[in-house]
Parts: sequence; C-alpha cells; structure tokens
Amino acid sequence: EEEQSLARFDALIDQDSRVEPRDWMPEKYRKTLSRQISQHAHSEIIGMQPEANWITRAPSLKRKSILMAKVQDEAGHGLYLYSAAETLGTTRDEYNEQLLSGKAKYSSIFNYPARTWADMGAIGWLVDGAAIANQVPLCRASYGPYGRAMVRVCKEESFHQRQGFEILLSLSRGTDAQKKMAQDAINRFYEPSLMMFGPPDDQSPNSQQSMAWKIKRFSNDELRQRFVGMIAEQVKVLGLTLPDPELHFDEEKKQWIHKDLNWDEFMAVIKGNGPANAQRLERRREAHREGAWVREAAAAYAAKQAQSEVA
Ligand code: ACO
Repeated sequence: EEEQSLARFDALIDQDSRVEPRDWMPEKYRKTLSRQISQHAHSEIIGMQPEANWITRAPSLKRKSILMAKVQDEAGHGLYLYSAAETLGTTRDEYNEQLLSGKAKYSSIFNYPARTWADMGAIGWLVDGAAIANQVPLCRASYGPYGRAMVRVCKEESFHQRQGFEILLSLSRGTDAQKKMAQDAINRFYEPSLMMFGPPDDQSPNSQQSMAWKIKRFSNDELRQRFVGMIAEQVKVLGLTLPDPELHFDEEKKQWIHKDLNWDEFMAVIKGNGPANAQRLERRREAHREGAWVREAAAAYAAKQAQSEVA
C-alpha cells in the first residue's frame, strides 16, 4: 500500500499538481516543509522588530501610518504561514516553542540592527525585494497550503518594496546628509540581503531534494543572481550605488556576477551569533510572556462558548 501511495505522490509531483494536507506524503517531504514553512513564519514575526522600532520615530504622520500598516502585514504573513505549517501535523505552540528556545532558525537578515530612518528604505527595497524574488517561485510550490499562502504574501511584499524604494528616492533627492544616510543604509544592507537566498548551491544541503520535490523551483544562486541584476538597474534610478565593484553582467555566462560574500559571517549569524540575535529573541520571549493574558482570555472565552453550545 505504501508503494501505491508513493507512486501517487510521485505522480502528483511529476504532473506539477499539488499535494494537499490529507494526501499521503513521504515523511521527509513533510519534515522539510515543516522546517521551511515554520522558519519562514518565524522570519515574518521576528522581522517585525527592526521596523517596529522605528514607528515612533517616523518623520511624518504619513510615514508612520505606512510603516504601521507594513509591520501589521508582516504579522499577518506569519499567521498564514503558521496555519499552513500546522496542516503538516505540528501545532503552532510547538513551532513557537522551537523559536523561543532558540532551536529554530529564522532569516539571517533580521539579526542586523536598523540604525537610521534610511534603513526603513533599505529594508523595504532590498530585504523585501529579496523576499519577493525568493517567494514568487514559491507560489508554485508543490504543497498547496504553502503555495496559496505565498500568493497573498507576495502581493503585499510588492507594496512593501515600493514604499522602501520611495523612502530612499526621497532621501536621495534631499539634503547631502539625507543622501549620505541613504547610501550608508544601502552599503550596510547590500551583502546581508544577498545572503537571504541561503548558502551557495554547492554548500546548500537541502536544495537538490527540495527542487526535485518542486518546493523550490530555482537554486539559491540562481535567485540571488536574478535579484542582484534587478537592483543593479534600480539603484541607478536612485542616483546611488551598490557597494560592489565586481558587479557586472557576464555576457558569456548570461548571468550577473557579484563579489564574494562573507559566508563566515553568515554562518555565525545563523548559529545565533549575529549582531542582534540575542536582542531579537529576548524581545520575542518578552512579547510572548506579555501576551499570556490574551491567550488565557481567548481560551477561557472559547471554553465558555463550547459549554453554552452543549447546554
Ligand atoms: N537565514 C537563516 N537560515 C538560512 C538562510 C538564511 N538566509 N539561508 C539558509 N538557511 C539555513 C537553512 O534553513 C538550512 O538550515 P536547516 O537545515 O538547519 O534548516 C541551512 O541554512 C542550509 O541552507 P539550504 O540547504 O540552502 O536550505 P533551504 O533549502 O531551506 O533554502 C531558503 C534556504 C532559500 C531560505 C529556503 O528555506 C526558503 O526559500 N525559505 C522560504 C523563504 C523565507 O524563509 N524567507 C524568510 C525571509 S523573507 C521575509 O520573511 C520577509
């Protein structure tokens, strides 16, 4: 019977059809998806912090309301993704415990501090830009709930990227100090945003299998190259530069070449030793503790509702 189930699963993947929660799936497929989707959810939730820290310091009411809406969107993305991840048989509480205990990874990028207002621009343009480049292909991921969640997430991310670009554009047309602040933010976020795509292909243990299962549609390096080509053009509109003298399009290979990235730094960050890892996790634990009364109240209300239905 297991053989038949596997044949059916393989056929679904072959036909570019979708695997749904009730379908039989290999345990490793389930595990890979639980890992990737929950890490993705954690990234959305931790990713609220660098920007939330700037809400009170936004330079105008308009900027403040845009930033608040964006941070709320990230919370929403986290929630869709936890829901998608729960369909694989692990509960949100379990996933949350993995995050709070430091066992689960989340995106490296959110372990860098947001130092100036221009960082809100660089995060929107580069970080959300990289997120889109990575996530548009995930809309076609073989696992139904993940692919469907990605569709809405990508639409919202596009708006986030534009608002970031627009912050940088305003700054680049402003005073010398503002232009310098925008350039400095780009200088700091360039490399970390390229690292969001994960390690180089020959050092990416999960890529091959995830591509065979059509969870990932492109390799880490392919997406990174596509992204760097996009921003190489967009930065010209900003009148600013990318901190990469080696960046160019290789006509023969038909691909963008960028400088070597500091993979030792990347490994340190994903092991928990980045500039802001400790602060991010501590803040998340604190928020979880502070939210205890809300969870208790919601549970008590649900129990009461269930009782009155029985009565
Ligand atoms: N930050 C933290 N960890 C990373 C990163 C990163 N940028 N890139 C890779 N890793 C981890 C992987 O999770 C994996 O660790 P694990 O096996 O312990 O789980 C390890 O490094 C090796 O990497 P890969 O074999 O390349 O892993 P994978 O095939 O999962 O590819 C990738 C990594 C591209 C990030 C993939 O998981 C993915 O596309 N995830 C969904 C997108 C996502 O999580 N985005 C979050 C940031 S964007 C945002 O939220 C706004």
